[in-house]
Amino acid sequence: MAIPDSFLEELNARTDIVDVVSGYVSLTKKGNRYWGLCPFHSEKTPSFSVSPDRQMCYCFGCHKGGGAIHFIMEVENVSFPDAVNILAQRAGLQVPETRGNPDNRKRRERLYQLNKDAARWYHQNLLESAHRSALNYFTNRGLSRRTITNFGLGYALDQWDGLIREMTQRGYEKAELLDAGLAIKTDKGRIYDRFRNRVMFPIIDLRGNVIGFGGRVLDDSTPKYLNSPDTIIFNKSKNLFALNLARKSKRGMLILTEGYMDTIALHQAGFDCAIASLGTSLTEEHARMIAQRTGQVVISYDSDSAGVNAAQRAIGLLNKTGVSVKVLKVTGAKDPDEFIKKYGPDAFQKLIERSESHIEFRLLQVKGKYDLKQDDQRVACIQEMAETIAALPGPAEREVYGGRMAKDLGISPDTMLHEIEQCRRRNYRKEQRQRERRALQPVQQHQPEDRRLRYDNMRSGKAEEGVIRLLLGDASLFAQTGELSPEDFTVPLYGRVFGQLRQRWNDQRSTDLNAMGQELTGEEMNLLVSILQHPVSQTNREQAMADYIKTIQTEALKGKRAGTVDDSALMAFRKQKHREETT
Ligand code: GTP
Ligand code: MN
Repeated sequence: MAIPDSFLEELNARTDIVDVVSGYVSLTKKGNRYWGLCPFHSEKTPSFSVSPDRQMCYCFGCHKGGGAIHFIMEVENVSFPDAVNILAQRAGLQVPETRGNPDNRKRRERLYQLNKDAARWYHQNLLESAHRSALNYFTNRGLSRRTITNFGLGYALDQWDGLIREMTQRGYEKAELLDAGLAIKTDKGRIYDRFRNRVMFPIIDLRGNVIGFGGRVLDDSTPKYLNSPDTIIFNKSKNLFALNLARKSKRGMLILTEGYMDTIALHQAGFDCAIASLGTSLTEEHARMIAQRTGQVVISYDSDSAGVNAAQRAIGLLNKTGVSVKVLKVTGAKDPDEFIKKYGPDAFQKLIERSESHIEFRLLQVKGKYDLKQDDQRVACIQEMAETIAALPGPAEREVYGGRMAKDLGISPDTMLHEIEQCRRRNYRKEQRQRERRALQPVQQHQPEDRRLRYDNMRSGKAEEGVIRLLLGDASLFAQTGELSPEDFTVPLYGRVFGQLRQRWNDQRSTDLNAMGQELTGEEMNLLVSILQHPVSQTNREQAMADYIKTIQTEALKGKRAGTVDDSALMAFRKQKHREETT
C-alpha cells in the first residue's frame, strides 16, 4: 500500500523545497528563510516562508505548511502518491511499483496521454482538405497558420464516434474516454463523442499537459461553446487558458480576457500576455495564480453589461491579492478580438496605456447606479462614492479622486473630503471595537495560534507540544521517552504522532516529519508544521524534555486521581446507602 520509506528518504534528499516552491511562488531570501506570497490564501504582504534547513514551508497567515510533498499535494490538488510521482519525475527517480498507489497515477498519466493524442488528431483533422470548412472558419476569423499551430487548434469531425473509434484503435478504453470527458454515455448506455463538428481549443497546463478542451460551433447554433467537464486532471477554477504561453511574455503584465478567441487574437497581434478563464467567472484561485506571476493585470472584458459586471467581480478578487489592476475600455467594438480586427494592434496598445485604474472604473460604476437629477439619489451617490474612496490607502489618492468626483457631482471638494473623512473615522471606530473585543479574551491568547488545536489541559497541551517539537528536531531524545505513554497525552493528535514516531524510532526508521507524510492528513501536517515554527533552545534539550515529560505525567496522574476520588466517593455513598437500608 504505502510507498517505502527508503524511497521517500531518497526523494526528500534529492528534492530541494526552495526549488520546488519557486516554481509556484516568487521567493525572496531574508535571514535563513525565503519569503513569498502564500499560494493558499489571498494576501498582499508575504507571510509564506520556506526554510531550507528544515525543508519545510509554512504560512504564518493561513497556517498551512509541510514538506515538498505536502506542498505539491496542496498546490496541485493531488493525492500523496501523485505528489510523490510529480516530485520523482523532477528528480529523475522511478517510484517503486507498489500495490494501491499506482492506479491513480497511471490513470492520470493515461488521461494526459489520451488528451494529447486527441489534440493531435483534432489538429490533423483541421489541416485535412476534406474538412476545409473548419480551417476556413479560423482563417475567416483572421487567424494565421502560425497561430493555429501555436495554439494547437483542431477540428472534431461531424460524426458520433470519430474520436472514440480512433482512440480505441490506439488501445484506449472507452472508460478512459469517459473519464477524460471526451465521450458521453447516455442513460441507455450508448457512448458517443462529446465534441462533434466543432473547432477545438486545447487547454494546456503549466507543465505542458493537455488537460481539456473548448469546442466552438462553426455557425450560429447553440451551445456556442462546449468545454470539457472537470475531470481528475482538469479543474476549471485552477487553470487559465494560455497561461502556459503568457507566463513567458516579457511585457510585465497579464491581460485578462473573457474568451478563447479574444486571447488568441491578442497573442497573434503581439500581446503574448493574454489569458482567459475557461468559460467560468474568475475564481479566487485564478486571482492568486495571476498575482503570483505578475504585478500588473489589465482586465479586458467585453463591453456589454455582462462584461462590466464580470469585471467588477474580477477587480474585487484581484485587489485582495495586491496586484495592480487596470480596466481597459473597449469602445467601438464588442470585444478585444473585434477591436483588434477593426483598429489594429497600435490602437489596442493605446487602449492599454489609457486604461483606467480600477478606482476610476469602480467610481464610474457607482455613478451609473443613480439618477443624479434627483436630490435624494445624488446624496446617496455621494455617500457611496465617499465610502469607496475612504477605502483607498493613500491620502493623495483620496484627495485626487475625491476632488474629481466632487466636480462631477457638482459639490465642493471640501464637502466631498469631509464625507470621506467621516467614513474613515466610522471605519476606524469599527475596527477599534473589534480589536478591543479580541483583547478581552485572554484565555484565547495562550491557546495555540492555530485555531484548530484546542488544549483542554493547557499545561499538559503545551508540554506535549514541546515534546513533539523536540523529538522532530533531535531524534536522540527518544531515548528519554521510555516512561512516557501515548495515553498520557491530552491532545489526541500529539499522542498519536508521538506513538508513531517512537515506533519508527524503535524500528530504526526515519523520524523526519517529511518521511511520515503518508501517515498524516494535510490538516494534521499543517498543525505539526505550525508548532515547529516556535524556536527551540539549542541548550539543555535533555533537561527541557525531562521537564515536559514530568509535566505530562503529573497532569495525567491528576486526571487519574480525580477519577479515583470520584470512585471512592461513590463507594462511600453506596456504603452509606447500604447501612441505611439494613438498619
Ligand atoms: P466568439 O468570438 O463568438 O467565438 O467567442 P468569444 O471567445 O468572444 O466568447 P464569448 O464572449 O461569446 O464568451 C466568452 C467565453 O465564455 C467563451 O470563450 C467560452 O469560454 C464561454 N462561453 C461562451 N458561450 C458559451 C456556451 O454556450 N457554453 C459554455 N459552456 N461556455 C460558453
Ligand atoms: Mn468574440
